[in-house]
Amino acid sequence: MRHFLSVADLSGDEFRAIIKRGSEFRKQFEAGENQALFPRKTMAMIFEKSSTRTRVSFEAGMAQLGGHALYLSPDDTQLGRGEPMEDTARVLSQMVDIVMIRTYSHEALQRFCSASSIPVINGLSDLFHPCQLLADMQTYFDYRGDIKGKTVAWIGDGNNVCNSFINTAKLLDFNLRIASPVGYLPNQSLLDNAGSQVTLSTSVNEAVDKADLIVTDVWSSMGHESESNKRTVAFADYSVTKAHLDLATKDALFMHCLPAHRGEEVDANVIDGDQSVVWDEAGNRLHAQKALIEFLLMSANS
Ligand code: CP
Ligand code: NVA
Repeated sequence: MRHFLSVADLSGDEFRAIIKRGSEFRKQFEAGENQALFPRKTMAMIFEKSSTRTRVSFEAGMAQLGGHALYLSPDDTQLGRGEPMEDTARVLSQMVDIVMIRTYSHEALQRFCSASSIPVINGLSDLFHPCQLLADMQTYFDYRGDIKGKTVAWIGDGNNVCNSFINTAKLLDFNLRIASPVGYLPNQSLLDNAGSQVTLSTSVNEAVDKADLIVTDVWSSMGHESESNKRTVAFADYSVTKAHLDLATKDALFMHCLPAHRGEEVDANVIDGDQSVVWDEAGNRLHAQKALIEFLLMSANS
């Protein structure tokens, strides 16, 4: 049985196979074909943080696969009253087939996993957002083909999405340039293990120079809202502008996991411009995750 807490839980071949399957799911969906491969399968979705895309994509995805998804929040489950993660994992393992968790502490997610006898998916923790990378890579591959050997520029906060980009650079063999202000760099041990493919750039201009893909995210992730004034100052030079896009390759794409703040981490004419693929990127969450669910349910039954 397999879990998906991090991109590093997959091999490069498995990652590529899942996003290829995600593209097939997208084509079938657009053609109106039946995708009900998992009737009666149930997913429990635990959300300790807000969500639009992750919630809707997992819930709609399970429905399209013929199954069902349950939304659970700490406010109205015993988790919010202190029931341990491990006990919750043991109970849910008796009742459903797969679990998705969005939480703060990655360590809590690992504790849940250690007590779970069903597959667990990380729907975002403070450390990683691996499902986002499945959708991002599916989108890149669909538009431009394999990302191996290409250059990706990450601009802004060295956050959970950035950490997952570092893991994916290693897995899929692309170059990743990260431009983040001092004090907001990504996880140091991930950087130490990443090797020469991942480099820190001293400026946004340097990072985006001839890049094939430019990616950014909010300056204040969930849980960091109280730092937002301080962060607005620290990130003032880290907005992605049209001038940055013009330094990249001419067919460079722009991605953002969303939600976005126009005029902060990205200018409106970039995110709403013709090199932006953010709507397909968001839409592909649905299809990449159906492929992930299929992969994990098959692994649990084999
Ligand atoms: N990108 C993403 O995970 O969005 P939500 O927070 O809306 O789920
Ligand atoms: N880095 C952001 C991603 C939101 C989808 C956050 O953690 O809030």
